[in-house]
Amino acid sequence: MKISVIGCGYLGVVHATCMAELGHEVVGIDVDKSKIASLSEGKPTFFEPGLPELLASALASGRLTFSEDIGRAADAQVHFIAVGTPQTGDTYAADLSYVNAAVTALLPHLGAGDLVVGKSTVPVGTAEMLHAMITAGSDASLAWNPEFLREGFAVADTISPDRLVYGIAAGTATGAGNAEAILDEVYAAALAEGTPKVVTDFATAELVKVAANAFLATKISFINAMAEVAEVTGADVTQLADAIGYDARIGRRFLNAGLGFGGGCLPKDIRAFMARAEELGVDQALSFLREVDSINLRRRGRMVDLVNEMLDGSAAGKRIAVLGLAFKPNSDDVRDSPALDVAVRLVELGAIVTATDPEALETARRKRPELTYVATAEEAVRDADVVVLLTEWSEYRELDPTGISTLVRGAVIVDGRNCLNPARWRAAGWTYRALGRP
Ligand code: UGA
Repeated sequence: MKISVIGCGYLGVVHATCMAELGHEVVGIDVDKSKIASLSEGKPTFFEPGLPELLASALASGRLTFSEDIGRAADAQVHFIAVGTPQTGDTYAADLSYVNAAVTALLPHLGAGDLVVGKSTVPVGTAEMLHAMITAGSDASLAWNPEFLREGFAVADTISPDRLVYGIAAGTATGAGNAEAILDEVYAAALAEGTPKVVTDFATAELVKVAANAFLATKISFINAMAEVAEVTGADVTQLADAIGYDARIGRRFLNAGLGFGGGCLPKDIRAFMARAEELGVDQALSFLREVDSINLRRRGRMVDLVNEMLDGSAAGKRIAVLGLAFKPNSDDVRDSPALDVAVRLVELGAIVTATDPEALETARRKRPELTYVATAEEAVRDADVVVLLTEWSEYRELDPTGISTLVRGAVIVDGRNCLNPARWRAAGWTYRALGRP
């Protein structure tokens, strides 16, 4: 199929590349000149495992191109909207200006029977509004097809999603059946593998996305709330998670207690969901998300307190090694990163912080130039009074406690992600502390 993808951020680039990989002819469109230039040379503007190789092969096949010219969308029949919906500066609500601008720019290039497919995460009601705009200004139609990809696994999640959701307008000119048939052709490969498909209305499709992220955020904050209780009772939250996780109704995934969630999705999505619920007069239904957000943010403060405690109550003038800055491993994303936040707070306490991350050094430096960055864990821990692990990259999990103990000034480690084996570190002479564990 001939496909255009409007917006070449994380979602758009991965989607465009994977669609080309699946055999479709794809143009990725973005207003950012430098992004288009970089992508056209096969260089993604962010770190994602497996993407550079796939991008190179898709470009070489001739099935994938990138352009600043929205007019190039005129050749396509299916147009994915993949622009960002960040949190607005001063409220919890999502900023829809990029979505509105993308659809407005696309309108004059839509042909009869074209399908515009919304992928961006939007407040419920947005699709209905965009559908009215598209059907009034063209002979095209709209479908809502939320995306569930995870950073770090984005390629696999796009090629083999765990479900497909189509939100379709009933009784439109092009007909609900037509939109479904077009999407079935786009996703023929995944459907042939037996991927479950839910065909529904706009509102349900929009809500599926935010409900899923709200559930995941709640699960993480639940276990972090248990960590708070564990901290005052001497219990071990990781054993508690293992034990409750054996109950298949609960499940162990997303019950890793620690510094909590960050990134470009979970935090802003739960806030936008609360803002929308308030507009709809059902704010009470989602008031628990305020608590989910608070629990999550409290973990960062607790981490700073714990580090301070390990430094005899005063971090000022002490040397702290920070391992990890990305919001999670296998990503260079520092948007709302708990790790970067904690690192900055430690600097604010007067500590001498030396931070490292395998992939997020540049993104972190751009956002927080005041920190001192080094390339390796060995450099970061040199002469440190305390080592603080904030993102659970595998290379930090596999650090040799005996080896690095010769580099530090104080063999004290605070594990912000509960990802190290306490017995192993203690046996090597370290003082080991973590969130939610004795
Ligand atoms: C999340 C969802 O998992 C995706 O399904 C969704 O498509 C995506 O948002 C989106 O809306 O685009 P992502 O932000 O890539 O994906 O990251 P997650 O793997 O969900 O992790 C989010 C945060 O939760 C990270 O900071 C991670 O460290 C933290 N986390 C995760 C925990 O603290 N504990 C856990 O047990 C799991």
